[in-house]
Amino acid sequence: MPVALVTGAGSGIGLATVLRLLDEGYKVVGVDLQAPQIDAEPDRFAGIPADVTEQADNERAVSEAVNRFGSLDAVALNAGVTGSGAIDALPIETYERILAVDLTGPVLGMRAAIGALRASRGPRSVVVTASTSGLGGDPGMWAYNAAKAGAVNLVRSLALELGAEGIRVNAVCPGPTVTAMTSRLRDTAPEAAGRLIAAIPLHRWGQPEEIAEAIAFLLSPKASFISGVALPVDGGVTATTGQFLPSSSPA
Ligand SMILES: NC(=O)c1ccc[n+]([C@@H]2O[C@H](COP(=O)([O-])OP(=O)(O)OC[C@H]3O[C@@H](n4cnc5c(N)ncnc54)[C@H](O)[C@@H]3O)[C@@H](O)[C@H]2O)c1
Repeated sequence: MPVALVTGAGSGIGLATVLRLLDEGYKVVGVDLQAPQIDAEPDRFAGIPADVTEQADNERAVSEAVNRFGSLDAVALNAGVTGSGAIDALPIETYERILAVDLTGPVLGMRAAIGALRASRGPRSVVVTASTSGLGGDPGMWAYNAAKAGAVNLVRSLALELGAEGIRVNAVCPGPTVTAMTSRLRDTAPEAAGRLIAAIPLHRWGQPEEIAEAIAFLLSPKASFISGVALPVDGGVTATTGQFLPSSSPA
């Protein structure tokens, strides 16, 4: 059985990814600030409390995977935070936290995992959850845009660095998805949420399971010749030049 590590596993896309990988037969270590609780046999799942911005925490999670389940084959570096505010208004501490979790987190996760990935005898694959916000700019979201764009180019560099060893590295770039991260917008700003949906060609929110499906595919041997891509899973958001809104009449 292949062994996977998923960060941000307590909620949203990470939780959906854990459930998907368990369904596919992986043994899974799930990492979040508080230990993720999942109804799974202890010989298939371990929930680890860890902060992805701390190198020692990342190393502890990798050790848990190897010691408990015997190897590490697949890594989903998914934990993330967001925040918005004008360039002269967003507290610099918020910017630093976004960079720490969304960009330094994947760096530290890779540094912690690389030894175990090299030691694995099976196919090895890493997926970083970036964002459509890593492929372009959004009003007021410069900190998140910068962090996620960094994550996209981190993935491209590591795909080049590790390709000769047969280790694939990819990113998924979700569009607006129904998770805790977007709940405030959906619950308290229906007009802004409506404008957002109008800009999505499929005219709806994504579900975390739809992002998890793409992550599981990229982690799997089915994607054996795919490395270094930043795959939008976004209902078509990034297909536009931005000059015209998509048709306002959903099918
Ligand atoms: N929801 C969206 O619309 C959307 C769109 C594009 C990209 N993303 C990205 O998807 C990823 C998952 O987010 P989500 O939408 O599932 O949100 P979420 O808030 O439901 O889940 C994020 C999880 O990451 C965890 N986390 C935050 N900081 C952490 C840290 N320092 N260490 C360990 N865990 C930490 C949180 O506790 C939470 O459980 C994030 O990287 C996010 O940026 C989300």
